[in-house]
Amino acid sequence: MRQVDALLGSCGPDTLRQRRSFKWRTYPTDVLPAFVAEMDFDLAQPIIEAVTQALALGDCGYGHLGRLDEVFAAFAADRLGWAADPARVFAIPDVMTGLAEVIQALTPPGAGVVINPPVYPPFWFRFGFSGRRIVEAPLARDADGRYDLDPAALDRALGEPGVAAYLLCSPHNPTGSVWTREQLHTAADLCQRHDVALVVDEIHAPLVLPGAEYVPFLSIDHEMTARAFTFTSASKGWNIPGLKCGLAVAGSAAGDKVLAERWEAFLPGHLGVLASIAAFTDGLPWLDAVRAQLDENRWLLRGLLAEQLPAARYRPPQASFLAWIDCRGLGLDGDPAATFLDRGRVALSPGEDFGRQGRGFARLNMGTSPELLAEAVRRMAAATG
Ligand SMILES: Cc1ncc(COP(=O)(O)O)c(C=O)c1O
Repeated sequence: MRQVDALLGSCGPDTLRQRRSFKWRTYPTDVLPAFVAEMDFDLAQPIIEAVTQALALGDCGYGHLGRLDEVFAAFAADRLGWAADPARVFAIPDVMTGLAEVIQALTPPGAGVVINPPVYPPFWFRFGFSGRRIVEAPLARDADGRYDLDPAALDRALGEPGVAAYLLCSPHNPTGSVWTREQLHTAADLCQRHDVALVVDEIHAPLVLPGAEYVPFLSIDHEMTARAFTFTSASKGWNIPGLKCGLAVAGSAAGDKVLAERWEAFLPGHLGVLASIAAFTDGLPWLDAVRAQLDENRWLLRGLLAEQLPAARYRPPQASFLAWIDCRGLGLDGDPAATFLDRGRVALSPGEDFGRQGRGFARLNMGTSPELLAEAVRRMAAATG
């Protein structure tokens, strides 16, 4: 059996409905969920074995970094072209906790944090819990629907009074853009000029798709890397967000200290550490099979939309499993995701959750079988008929 077929073994709706995760339990059973960023594929066998072995041993205590620093550094060198220093790699429970703690450490109360909408919804509210405020530097969108960093907008936002940090999402959710080395240098130059700390969310990096060249921020040759932190995880790439383990990497010894001081807030889930080690070592064939399936799905979706919802606009992402669909041409009133849900019984993420720039858009999760992807589009089309 091909690796890619093994991924889809349990990908039928009846088996998936037995899952009890957020994706499968938020809506009634007649709704096909295609919203939250969980994938439907079977887990990688090395992860199943690592976690099962731990359970059999009663090995469910507090997380310990173990070899995670070394194996991540080896993965980064081998797959991402980044010579990450294992001594700078820390385990964290999840990326959002890491970002929130580090932003709190680097900025004073009331400080501005710049983000690039449309962007991952928790970026809008999570830092408000500790009294930071969001400053927008919207992405530029061209006539083909390609989104890019807008240096003028970024310069303006970073120059606003009280701005102390920039949170860059790379690759970007929901647009699927992968930033070039030149774009990363421009962002770094601007942060340096405005004396602003830089935190980079690279959680989708393991899922960069064929044709795109991904550049990890800490691999670039720029002084700003000393003031930067990267956050990543095996959680998106290998579909294990419920196991609670991410990674923070500091760009300097001063950054190490910021992370080390927060060890108590950063205790990862133990099963997550074990699963992540299995992912970064023995989980690479599985990752490649998933990337191949997602590559197929992103082009399949283009054809399905062209046939069944020709007024929708979509540009296949360069990374990951999220499709950002411009539904403004469909002639729907209000939020298109609400129409798809009410009339088509398929749940997408409402575009406006990603910022006002997402009004009239919806985000579809393509991390599933071609059959369920086709069913999602069939339901979207039925909703608009
Ligand atoms: C860009 C981005 N950052 C962070 C997260 C959440 O990651 P975690 O569960 O590790 O906090 C997601 C989840 O989809 C995401 O897309």
